[in-house]
Amino acid sequence: MKYVPLTEALHSYICETFPAEDEFLCRLKTEADEAGLPPIHIAPEQIAFLQVLMRSVGARRVLEIGTLAGYSAIAIARALPNDGRLLTLERNPLHAEFALRKIREAALEHVIEVRTGSAKELLGEIREEPFDAVFIDADKAGYGTYLQKALPLLRLGGLVIGDNTLAWGNIADATTEDKTVQALRRFNTAMSAHPQLQSCLVPIAEGMTIGVKIR
Ligand SMILES: C[S@@+](CC[C@H](N)C(=O)[O-])C[C@H]1O[C@@H](n2cnc3c(N)ncnc32)[C@H](O)[C@@H]1O
Repeated sequence: MKYVPLTEALHSYICETFPAEDEFLCRLKTEADEAGLPPIHIAPEQIAFLQVLMRSVGARRVLEIGTLAGYSAIAIARALPNDGRLLTLERNPLHAEFALRKIREAALEHVIEVRTGSAKELLGEIREEPFDAVFIDADKAGYGTYLQKALPLLRLGGLVIGDNTLAWGNIADATTEDKTVQALRRFNTAMSAHPQLQSCLVPIAEGMTIGVKIR
């Protein structure tokens, strides 16, 4: 087995050498905490990773499922061109309102649109032109459905990205009775076996599964 275990020193090195979380995003997390939002944003090193992914496919239109405080939406939007658009779906109105406030503060309201409601329903109502990338980061039980509904909305060569796919270290447990872990295992299997995707799992932060639409 060829791998390097991630130590705190290595993690600090990565974040310091490829910094992506600026003062604004750092403050956003503190304010979200103070407002009682759960601290479940992507990790700082995932910002750089998502931005590289967006730029590598020339993303102009991105769909995000799971807005929370707008941390990942703002991070992704910064890697889009001037005419880029990011549509983000959020079930919790308090999260959506907080995110909207921060999006306005970041002067990104012309780029990011927050739609409030259940992602399953909102996905069925999307009529926009195809997306270049879809970032799935909401309830884990829904990941399978989100993949199914988002794939037809994705252009050929576009990316589908699912977060937390190492299931907090439990993903390899085939006997688990934890419904969240089971859902993530089903999602990874679907991503791996899907005839329209070539996929891999990147062990960054809590794991990200990435697929490119090949047909
Ligand atoms: C992990 S957080 C998203 C974090 C965000 N992507 C970031 O990194 O900044 C998940 C969010 O998905 C929302 N959510 C959960 N289930 C949902 C659903 N069925 N439809 C839409 N949003 C949902 C939650 O309210 C929460 O705000």
